[in-house]
Amino acid sequence: MNKKRNYTTSPSSYLGITLISIMLVFQAGCGSSTSDTELDVIILDQNLTGNPASERDLPDISDPVAQLGMALFYSKSLGGAMDAACVTCHHPGLGGGDGLSFPVGVDSLDPDVLGLGRTNSANLPIVPRNAPSVFNAGLWDSGLFFDSRVESLGKENKANGAVSPIRTPDSDFLIADVNAGENLVMAQSKFPVTSSEEMKTEDFENGSTNDVIRDHLAARLGDYGVGEGELSTNAWLEEFQTAFVSSEGAEVLVTFDNIAYALGEFERSMVFVDTPWHQYVNGDLLAISEDQKQGAILFFTPVNEGGAGCSGCHRGDVFSDEQHHVIAFPQIGVGKGDGNNDDFGRERETGNPADRYHFRTASLLNVALTAPYGHAGTYQTLEEVVRHYVNPVASVNAFFDRGGWCQLPQYQSIGNCETLYPDSIANSRLALQKLGQERQVMATPFISPALNDIQIAQLVSFLESLTDDCAGDRECLSGWVPGAGDNGPDENQLNAVDVEGNVL
Ligand code: HEC
Ligand code: HEC
Repeated sequence: MNKKRNYTTSPSSYLGITLISIMLVFQAGCGSSTSDTELDVIILDQNLTGNPASERDLPDISDPVAQLGMALFYSKSLGGAMDAACVTCHHPGLGGGDGLSFPVGVDSLDPDVLGLGRTNSANLPIVPRNAPSVFNAGLWDSGLFFDSRVESLGKENKANGAVSPIRTPDSDFLIADVNAGENLVMAQSKFPVTSSEEMKTEDFENGSTNDVIRDHLAARLGDYGVGEGELSTNAWLEEFQTAFVSSEGAEVLVTFDNIAYALGEFERSMVFVDTPWHQYVNGDLLAISEDQKQGAILFFTPVNEGGAGCSGCHRGDVFSDEQHHVIAFPQIGVGKGDGNNDDFGRERETGNPADRYHFRTASLLNVALTAPYGHAGTYQTLEEVVRHYVNPVASVNAFFDRGGWCQLPQYQSIGNCETLYPDSIANSRLALQKLGQERQVMATPFISPALNDIQIAQLVSFLESLTDDCAGDRECLSGWVPGAGDNGPDENQLNAVDVEGNVL
């Protein structure tokens, strides 16, 4: 930014100014504008290439292991009661998430119904956090989950955790889990199957260790030992033999490590980064609109220079610094067992109260496809999110004043929804207080920008330019969705439909 300012205000000479004017006229002739000139400087300054996937070792969806991973990702056999799969909460047709504030995992009324209208007999979601997208999971280098409880200890750039050891909930904070596996995504995929609310159910392997649960599921798919005969149709061994090019038997091949590795490779093949913004950074000046350019300038310019300061945290081509910050989006839901139905975020892992209410900075790639937003899925639109940054206190108050969560699409069909989360206002205010304290000692990069309605619309419009066309296009996504005529190696494939019965 400064470079440009010095340039235009430098007393050098009329000649300089004339040259600039000629340049601008010339650029305008080529479809370029002053906003392009400003963005040029920003792109250089912030080292943006537009392509976060470059120089990364990521599989293609045609890779046989990724193909096996897809079959596993869609199989309800990995759910303890065979009623939930990974795709239950992470469907490509729903932006890699589930379109809900909080997921409904096990015990749903209809396991194959995903998105709005998916519910359980109590008509109440019990998973405490919003399901993030699995798109671009291979682009994270530091940690997965909102609190990074699956965390690379070395955080090497562009490695997806493949270089140094990984800590998981199976090991203590900062201690390597020697069984974590190849990369962060593989390490993460060992956990949903152990969660009673997400996939396991209370009854399956009740009280068993995580490893016993995983081994039982592997034995179910491999049709050996404790899992023998649990699947009436079972062609998994052939699938594993093909994927791993091996003639070994099930006890060697169909292990939970191999399951987790294949799940991870499938997820890591979901690279959706070909956005209009990417095309713009690579020289197509017409790829985004003038409003989006103005939004981009605001996004990448610090608040004290008249911008919105977003890239202070949503940094680089991935749009995340992979650090944890307090943003104080409204907190609802059953909570993580902290305080009164509260969620302390990163503090739960570090044990440090300074990290209370800190959550990992979201990547904003394809964000237009993944409403509702935040770790508790409380804002339904990007405009609401941006308005929160402008004035968090007013925004949280307005959220609760207008009936808060009861207006969220997922809660509109829930009777007595006002009485559901009696502590949510108090919890949300505690998070705002924490933000206030950090601001007082300048311990947070979150400074509220003063933005008018036009600027807010421009920022929203810029966020929309971060969507890969393919990520929102059913046809283009078909490589990541098994054919609905196919029921998978165990006849237990989740062929998702929406609440009206349309194929997702
Ligand atoms: C019932 C819903 C549900 C199911 C089923 C589920 N997930 Fe998730 N997933 C979530 C939620 C909620 C989170 C965030 C939890 C947190 O941060 O504490 C998450 C987080 C993740 C993340 C981390 C994303 C990020 O940005 O950090 C990945 C990757 C992931 N899930 C993959 C999987 C895989 C693989 C499976 C199957 C083995 C699976 N999920 C099953 C709900 C679900
Ligand atoms: C201090 C760091 C920081 C700054 C500055 C910041 N963000 Fe965020 N952003 C975060 C964190 C952390 C989250 C996740 C919070 C949560 O889940 O509770 C987030 C979440 C979001 C989300 C929701 C994403 C999702 O998938 O749920 C959007 C959209 C967003 N930010 C946009 C912006 C915009 C636009 C700006 C500038 C006006 C901005 N952010 C400034 C850290 C920041």
